[in-house]
Amino acid sequence: MAGEKLRKLVIVGASSKIAAPTVTHLLDTNPDLQITILSRAVSRATFPSSPRITVKKGDYDDEEFLIEAFRGQEAVMIVISIFAMDAQYKLIDAAAKAGVKWILPNEYGADNDNPTFIKLHRELTTPKDDVLRYIEKLSETYTGVSYIAVATGPWLDTSINAVLFGISIRSRTYTHYPDAGYFSTTTKEQVGRGLAALLSLPVHPTPESAGLDSYANKFVYIASHRLNQDDLFAAIKRFSRTNDADWTIKTSTVA
Ligand SMILES: NC(=O)c1ccc[n+]([C@@H]2O[C@H](COP(=O)([O-])OP(=O)(O)OC[C@H]3O[C@@H](n4cnc5c(N)ncnc54)[C@H](OP(=O)(O)O)[C@@H]3O)[C@@H](O)[C@H]2O)c1
Repeated sequence: MAGEKLRKLVIVGASSKIAAPTVTHLLDTNPDLQITILSRAVSRATFPSSPRITVKKGDYDDEEFLIEAFRGQEAVMIVISIFAMDAQYKLIDAAAKAGVKWILPNEYGADNDNPTFIKLHRELTTPKDDVLRYIEKLSETYTGVSYIAVATGPWLDTSINAVLFGISIRSRTYTHYPDAGYFSTTTKEQVGRGLAALLSLPVHPTPESAGLDSYANKFVYIASHRLNQDDLFAAIKRFSRTNDADWTIKTSTVA
């Protein structure tokens, strides 16, 4: 039916930093969606209570458990710890075997479709890219399975706190990299809003809207701001009511 939306979604790692806001927004933006949350048997995570949410706990090494959880589902969104990248393969195998059509693999960071970034950061991009190639290969056996990869850039709130932008609020130091240029960024809350909007698109494109099908085996980009370091430093000074004299400012180069 034209305009029909996703009805059945599994989220793996639903207590993660971006999946939690995704669940909250999805309940509003896609009213007919039923969400199944998959969580490890050992997990202590808690989840929102809603008649539209079912929680299934189990062992991800148990393929029967996974296939049973994925059967009848249309999409699986995987948001698991970066230290558990390999756990994805079992989830993806089971999803394909159960007939799931869309898999959102564990991306949510850099633009792994950008040849310049890939060249500079192979250690970051290869494990994630291998997963995309794996899903493409699986589609030769399990017809119709495809990925939708979501790139968000660095999460602004998390990355400021981790001093990833060269600005340490705690020690009031700013290391300026004049060759760093502009970057896209967004907050975790906004990633949740963007993922909910994506998963609330019609399944098939309509004259008014893209559909999930429009993004099969493609990247979707979520961004709130395009900034350079100086823009961010100016904003931080404004909010902290400080000026250059309050900071130790150094200059270095990325290259
Ligand atoms: N763009 C950015 O700035 C940025 C920053 C951080 C992370 N990320 C990306 O976001 C994604 C999620 O990262 P996160 O830091 O939000 O994750 P996280 O909070 O560390 O973990 C998310 C969930 O992973 C599940 N999990 C943990 N260990 C697992 C294991 N061994 N096997 C299977 N599942 C496991 C847990 O769910 P249960 O307890 O329910 O099982 C946990 O709640 C990653 O792809 C990461 O690269 C991006």
